[in-house]
Amino acid sequence: MHCKIIGAPVEVGTDRIGCALGPQALRAAGLREALEALGHVVEDLGDIVPDAPVPVSHPNAAVRHLPAIAAWTAAIAEASFRAGDSGFPIFLGGDHSISAGTLAGLSRRAAERGRPLFVLWIDAHPDFHTLDTTTSGNLHGVPLAYACGRPGFAGYLPPVEALIDPKRVCTLGIRSVDPAEQAALADAGVMTCDMSAIDRHGIAVLIERFLERARRENGLLHVSLDVDFLDPAVAPAVGTTVPGGATFREAHLAMELLHESNLVTSLDIVELNPLLDDQGRTAALMVDLAGSLFGRRILGRAAQAA
Ligand code: ARG
Ligand code: MN
Ligand code: MN
Ligand code: MN
Repeated sequence: MHCKIIGAPVEVGTDRIGCALGPQALRAAGLREALEALGHVVEDLGDIVPDAPVPVSHPNAAVRHLPAIAAWTAAIAEASFRAGDSGFPIFLGGDHSISAGTLAGLSRRAAERGRPLFVLWIDAHPDFHTLDTTTSGNLHGVPLAYACGRPGFAGYLPPVEALIDPKRVCTLGIRSVDPAEQAALADAGVMTCDMSAIDRHGIAVLIERFLERARRENGLLHVSLDVDFLDPAVAPAVGTTVPGGATFREAHLAMELLHESNLVTSLDIVELNPLLDDQGRTAALMVDLAGSLFGRRILGRAAQAA
């Protein structure tokens, strides 16, 4: 695999500083080396630089940093469209607002390639607010709704050239959903696998169900991995921890199944806040999870029992 690492040091989608240090922390934790050890070719394209923001305001006075997010979204969409032509782009956040751009660019590329884009949103939150429904005003809470063409983004964030069909989206691990998001998810027909579903059925069954649909439609699959999917006890370095998250083993199993599927074509790793980390422990965990997604096994391939 030819992996392309692309940094998107965005933190204005949140209400605290730190996420902009994410790309460097993931690099320092050995992302490139981990992928190379698995036999992949790794190219680091550096960090995206946005154009200067253009002033714009929104009637919802809670909305924060809209001009900056619009500029980032345009720059990231362009970079991800370009990177999506070949190889496997890996986007390092930055907060989850970067996915407004990665989804917009990758969906445009998928449309050009004549393939449907599927999205596995691995997160404690669905990030399915619109600019009108957000009450925190933190725009890391809106990227999935934006890319799926929910109403009210036009004129505020760049137009999405190829909208993502919400029926090709699965949110996995959710456990903090605001009322407006819950209504919108149901209305849009997003597949939602909350923590209760993981407890009841096991994460493998749920993932396989979604992968089967992507396989049937010959889809490309983008994985968007928010650090807060994991339980705060194993991944403390994130600003929006929610108790009752995925375990270390569940997260690795998810990554292993995704690797085996051969369907995944791009990845976001988002919301790492190195200022909240404990000597790089969460950064190291995210690099390890990327390793599982790219083929690492506890026992080498040949040694695996049937
Ligand atoms: N739903 C909450 C909000 O809109 C939390 C969003 C958290 N999103 C994230 N990417 N961590 O403020
Ligand atoms: Mn701010
Ligand atoms: Mn998120
Ligand atoms: Mn989250």
